Amino acid sequence: METAPLLHIRDLEIEFRRYGAEPTKAVQQLSLDLMPGESMAIVGESGSGKSATALALARLLPEPPATVRATKLELHGKDILRLSPAELRQVRGKDIAYVFQEPSTSLNPVLTVRTQMAESLQLHRPDVKDIDAEIITWLDKVGIVDPAKRLRAYPHELSGGMQQRVMIAMALCTQPRLLIADEPTTALDVTIQKQIIDLLAQLRRDLGMSIILITHNFGIIRDIVDKVVVMFRGKVVETGPVDEVLKNPQHPYTQALLACVPRMGAKKARLPAIDHATL
Ligand SMILES: Nc1ncnc2c1ncn2[C@@H]1O[C@H](COP(=O)(O)OP(=O)(O)OP(=O)(O)O)[C@@H](O)[C@H]1O
Ligand SMILES: [Mg+2]
Repeated sequence: METAPLLHIRDLEIEFRRYGAEPTKAVQQLSLDLMPGESMAIVGESGSGKSATALALARLLPEPPATVRATKLELHGKDILRLSPAELRQVRGKDIAYVFQEPSTSLNPVLTVRTQMAESLQLHRPDVKDIDAEIITWLDKVGIVDPAKRLRAYPHELSGGMQQRVMIAMALCTQPRLLIADEPTTALDVTIQKQIIDLLAQLRRDLGMSIILITHNFGIIRDIVDKVVVMFRGKVVETGPVDEVLKNPQHPYTQALLACVPRMGAKKARLPAIDHATL
């Protein structure tokens, strides 16, 4: 039986224009497919175009300065480049949700956990009658102890790891088909990093959703994803099943990345400079 891909991208190109300067191509000729329930890592060094690609999927890049083009950019059968602003608001939350590295980019410091989660629930799941109960269920699913008590907490009253869990709960409570986790653990301590990655792996199994995990770090992907896309200077240089890419990387850039996999836990997973001239 043929199943339609959840994400279907052909020849994605993202350009940034700055006043008085030549436009820079952040992403070029990017094509990929993701089936429903399938998960993928996008790996590559800083500036390779990982976040730009992820943000373009829900038209979250500011356009201008960005220009997004593609011969196909479909999410759950919807032609993302042709949706109205109102349709895009529905897609964000229902089809795709994001978790970023910095809690401050997703959590509003002056609103309680309840207020923030209730807002997206009301927008995307108007059928939910008991909002508090629903929020408590999600806080519990992401491993927040005593969730009823945390309902009225402000973000600053939570630890970094807890803020990350709240962001995941907030992203998941609308039950998106695709969760994008953009370096979700880079800012966290070693043990918390491991806990969050394990949590994502478990939620993926339990909820059957797709995850795109964006990371510098090959060391954390094996348990979460089925396949890997390696990006280098805005292009996909290698793609394949995770075990194959880890065992037998084909592209010299992938080999270089794998040669410097930081330990699970290195607090700032920085890549040593790779000599691009040799690639
Ligand atoms: N809003 C923007 N305006 C101008 N240029 C941008 C903007 N966002 C990204 N870029 C440029 O696009 C390129 C890709 O950036 P992107 O943020 O996608 O990289 P990344 O792979 O996510 O890197 P990192 O690992 O550091 O997060 C970079 O050259 C960056 O400078
Ligand atoms: Mg990024």
